[in-house]
Amino acid sequence: MSKITIAIDGYSSTGKSTVARQLADWLEYVYVDSGAMYRAVTLFALRKGFISETQFDKQKLIDSLPEVTLEFRKNAEGKAEIFLKGENVEKQIRTMEVSEYVSPIATVSEVRRKLVEQQQRMGEGKGVVMDGRDIGTVVFPNAELKIFMNASAETRASRRFKELQDRGDKVTFNEVLENVKERDHIDSTRKDSPLRKAGDAIEVDNSEMNLEDQFHTILQLAKDRIAGRI
Ligand code: CDP
Ligand code: CDP
Repeated sequence: MSKITIAIDGYSSTGKSTVARQLADWLEYVYVDSGAMYRAVTLFALRKGFISETQFDKQKLIDSLPEVTLEFRKNAEGKAEIFLKGENVEKQIRTMEVSEYVSPIATVSEVRRKLVEQQQRMGEGKGVVMDGRDIGTVVFPNAELKIFMNASAETRASRRFKELQDRGDKVTFNEVLENVKERDHIDSTRKDSPLRKAGDAIEVDNSEMNLEDQFHTILQLAKDRIAGRI
């Protein structure tokens, strides 16, 4: 059966990466978490001191971009993890600190250009499921299946809050809710590749869906598209 490209975009914490990973496993496709790449660049900028609460030295970040090498490697369980300059940073990129700075970093066109090029190379052979904000609009405008995920901000924040609590991150629900809203705002209003639903994307609101419902809904869409039924 011929392989297709699947683009999953949407607001933060809608469940994109969970469903994209499940779909890729089921279809035996490659899964790419494009958000992890923006998070890894953010971790790099934080470590270098290019961004902090009081300043953002955009030019220094741009000048240092050639140094930033990113790759995904599978761990023992077969789950892809991100490596920044050869270091596994899968855990370090998921902190609240990185979440607070990632959207400003993702507004920088030079950062986007570099990451989009790498993402397009990873999808060259099709058989890829990629999630992010601009996958159906910019990275793979010709993707055969585009999904746009949505859920209420409160639902999304409570899911993310639970996840952070389970990991022992000391945050309040309000901090998570504010971060989710702030990122949605920056991501959808930035000049370069703003978050928006592609004209040919199928919208899935999963406010009332659990992980299983959401997986079956989207898997059905993928099967229908692969079989040419939709
Ligand atoms: O998982 P979560 O929804 O919290 O975010 P993510 O997918 O890890 O992405 C983190 C941030 O990276 C987003 O809020 C965007 O600012 C940026 N991003 C982007 O601009 N374009 C993408 N294709 C993916 C992520
Ligand atoms: O990638 P994105 O930020 O869109 O979301 P995610 O990391 O896949 O999901 C965020 C959290 O919400 C995870 O802990 C998921 O297990 C949870 N979730 C859920 O409980 N029910 C859903 N229908 C979707 C996500």
